[in-house]
Amino acid sequence: MRLALLGCGTVGQEVVRLLHEQASDLAARIGAPLEIAGIAVRRLGRDRGDLPVDPALFTTDALGLIKRDDVDVVIEVVGGIEPARGWLVEALRAGKSVVTANKALLAEDGVALHEAAAEGGGDLYYEASVAGAIPLLRPLRESLHGDRINRVTGIVNGTTNFILSAMDATGAGFAEALEEATELGYAEADPTADVEGFDAAAKAAILASLAFHTRVGAADVHREGITEVTAADVASAQAMGCTIKLLCIAARGVDPAGRETVSVRVHPAMIPRSHPLASVSDAFNAVFVEADAAGQLMFYGRGAGGAPTASAVLGDVVAVARNRLAGVRAASESAYADLAVRPMGEALTRYHVSLDVADRPGVLAAVAGVFARHDVSIATVRQGSAGGSTGATGRAGDAELVIVTHVAPDAALAATVGELRGLDIVRSVTSVLRVEGGA
Ligand code: NDP
Ligand code: HSE
Repeated sequence: MRLALLGCGTVGQEVVRLLHEQASDLAARIGAPLEIAGIAVRRLGRDRGDLPVDPALFTTDALGLIKRDDVDVVIEVVGGIEPARGWLVEALRAGKSVVTANKALLAEDGVALHEAAAEGGGDLYYEASVAGAIPLLRPLRESLHGDRINRVTGIVNGTTNFILSAMDATGAGFAEALEEATELGYAEADPTADVEGFDAAAKAAILASLAFHTRVGAADVHREGITEVTAADVASAQAMGCTIKLLCIAARGVDPAGRETVSVRVHPAMIPRSHPLASVSDAFNAVFVEADAAGQLMFYGRGAGGAPTASAVLGDVVAVARNRLAGVRAASESAYADLAVRPMGEALTRYHVSLDVADRPGVLAAVAGVFARHDVSIATVRQGSAGGSTGATGRAGDAELVIVTHVAPDAALAATVGELRGLDIVRSVTSVLRVEGGA
């Protein structure tokens, strides 16, 4: 079984190492040896340490390598949309099987890849694209295919989880925690894709597509990052017995017309410390799946890093190689349900809102009136006067109000907060966070 490896960076180098170290076991498991036919990179002269591979295998001609007749399986660990899309479509149309870790491409244009795979008759596997080493996509696309998944809630970005865990543990602000994450090598030099939620949103789209048999792309995912989360937000969460996590949430629902829908969102949220996802700290990932018959399932492990990601890549290589030897193909894309993607405004959430307000008669009633006008029901209210227990403002004549709502449409909650910001009795809205997981 001859492999073309596209990319030999953090993940690719570990793929090469594992292929070398596990060669005889892999051959026994597959029923044929795996052999690297070529490795496409951008810079031939780059130092790749003591990789156990013949230097003559390196090339900058990825397309030429893919087109070779003796290549059976293409492994793509380059990343980005182009040229990866063109390469993989070419490989799949030519009947080769593809293993990729490229979440950005799958979320942007997974349809093109699935269609090319159907045309060529090869397999398209992408376990490493979501949550690194954690076996998650195969359980969703195979083991749980007899069940009905209702909700997937996950921490799928290690960098942001490291930052939020550090803020929770030390009281640090976002900038300080990001600096630590960068120094320790968790955050990249340009952390935008992670801290603004793009990486998690791509993974959310892939998870939702598999869980709900519906094509969901990156553009369908409501996305908010963690750059606005403050040390005060974290302290507020702690006061409520909660912690803040960047969650990806994909859930079934029913729209006002009675049609079944799916909503997919990525945003920071408070969750109770008793929630299984609350104890997922540092750069770890975890995904919580709720299904009709199976009930609650939790998948936990390393979501990034060369070796963990290469483990998932190699698992896929074994699967597609076995299929090729047996002359069969894995089940193709399942998008039959074709559920409508619900706009974020209709998603049902709870909010935690902290306000600095004037401390005088009628203020609480006026604030409550705003919630009532938008049909948002208040669950709890806490007030602390200057120097009080809720972390009060310290200004004489002011108080801090902390309001937690019942579930309401996101648009109603956003409109409530918008109106509160315009009231002269409200000095400032100091924190607005969604609350998930029964807090
Ligand atoms: P790196 O940046 O470390 O490596 C990218 C590789 O692609 C390099 O070898 C580079 O060549 C090569 N490359 C880039 N552009 C081209 C090009 N135009 N033609 C040929 N080769 C090219 O990336 P990672 O290994 O970190 O990530 C690879 C993929 O895996 C991405 O899709 C990423 O999202 C995904 N992934 C990564 C994880 C991780 O922890 N790193 C975790 C999960 C998924 P050269 O070496 O010459 O520069
Ligand atoms: N940058 C990602 C993370 C790893 O921090 O989880 C690749 O998916």
